[in-house]
Amino acid sequence: MINRQIVLASHPQGVPLPSDFACVEAAVPSPSTGQMLVRNLYFSLEAAIRGWLDGKANYFEPIPLGGAIRGPSVAQIIESKLDGFEVGDIIFGLHHWEDYSLSDANTVLLSKLSPKAGIPLSYYSGGLGGSGQTAYVGLHEIGKIAPSDTVVISAAAGATGSMACQIAKLCGCRVVGIVGSDEKARLITNTLGADAAVNYKAVDDLAQAVAAACPEGVDVYFDNVGGRTLDAVLTCMNAFGRVIGCGMISDYNDPDNPTPIYNLWKIVEKELTMRGFLLYSYMDKVPEAMEQLHAWVEQGEITVLENITEGLPNAGRAYSDMMKGATVGKNLVRVDTEHDAC
Ligand SMILES: NC(=O)c1ccc[n+]([C@@H]2O[C@H](COP(=O)([O-])OP(=O)(O)OC[C@H]3O[C@@H](n4cnc5c(N)ncnc54)[C@H](OP(=O)(O)O)[C@@H]3O)[C@@H](O)[C@H]2O)c1
Repeated sequence: MINRQIVLASHPQGVPLPSDFACVEAAVPSPSTGQMLVRNLYFSLEAAIRGWLDGKANYFEPIPLGGAIRGPSVAQIIESKLDGFEVGDIIFGLHHWEDYSLSDANTVLLSKLSPKAGIPLSYYSGGLGGSGQTAYVGLHEIGKIAPSDTVVISAAAGATGSMACQIAKLCGCRVVGIVGSDEKARLITNTLGADAAVNYKAVDDLAQAVAAACPEGVDVYFDNVGGRTLDAVLTCMNAFGRVIGCGMISDYNDPDNPTPIYNLWKIVEKELTMRGFLLYSYMDKVPEAMEQLHAWVEQGEITVLENITEGLPNAGRAYSDMMKGATVGKNLVRVDTEHDAC
């Protein structure tokens, strides 16, 4: 058996290029006591991975040159020496971009999945995985959304944003999405139920455009992008508004030059709460999120948007496309189980 791995070939300069990644072949590892060998099926492409490619400390260790890229996957156990995990079980956890990984009780985000009949397995990497859970936990635990709140969501056609739009709408909020194209604007209003959309690339004054789309002001801002979008939305917040610090993707490709934020005074003036969060600190909230998300998906209340790239060797290209903003929905790589070498 060949274990193909996607490794870091060079530190990206700006948006990652497919050539920053390389496919190499390694031995299939053997599990020791307390470990299991899993076959990766779907990799979830995460914006956060970008922060691990620069060789600098982030909230995880940086990935060294030549090291396998770290990323969450849905995987199937093919050998187990870990109590409670059986051969054939489907799990989720932070592994490496490779065919076969070792996993154990300390694997970040490790959970055993109980995929429901009729629901595509891929959903457990996105809408019913980290993206949906992040959207749900962020809106409820940090944003404290209430019916009739006006909720603004950036990167609203993306994995997290598309779920946040629909969850906020189902909770009775007025939803305004900020996106990077007119096509994405149409998608979030026509398919995801957003009440309005702002294409930040097509307006001269983003603050004015957000204000026009939110005549009653903004109660909750679900921030996926930071930078000038955050700066603009701060000027539109209502008193006692909440800013959910989910991510700041607009600075990920150039982390040494973060965009200045000029409107922080609004936090005082409007008595705002701005709070960041990482999903893995809220794992106790995930069962509730999963129950509700499953119900909505099964009832057809939520559309899970996916962009699936076929084949592990194409993971680098898929990641580059995602970080360019060229895609919508959850970006996944389906690992080709029938293959030759790299
Ligand atoms: N806190 C947590 O636990 C947690 C968990 C998961 C994800 N996140 C964060 O959530 C955010 C979204 O991640 P995701 O995985 O769901 O990715 P995603 O939204 O599916 O994909 C990234 C999107 O970001 C937008 N974008 C890229 N560069 C941008 C820029 N310079 N300015 C504005 N928008 C830009 C693009 O959409 P446009 O075309 O609309 O610009 C792109 O499609 C990221 O910041 C990520 O770090 C946080």
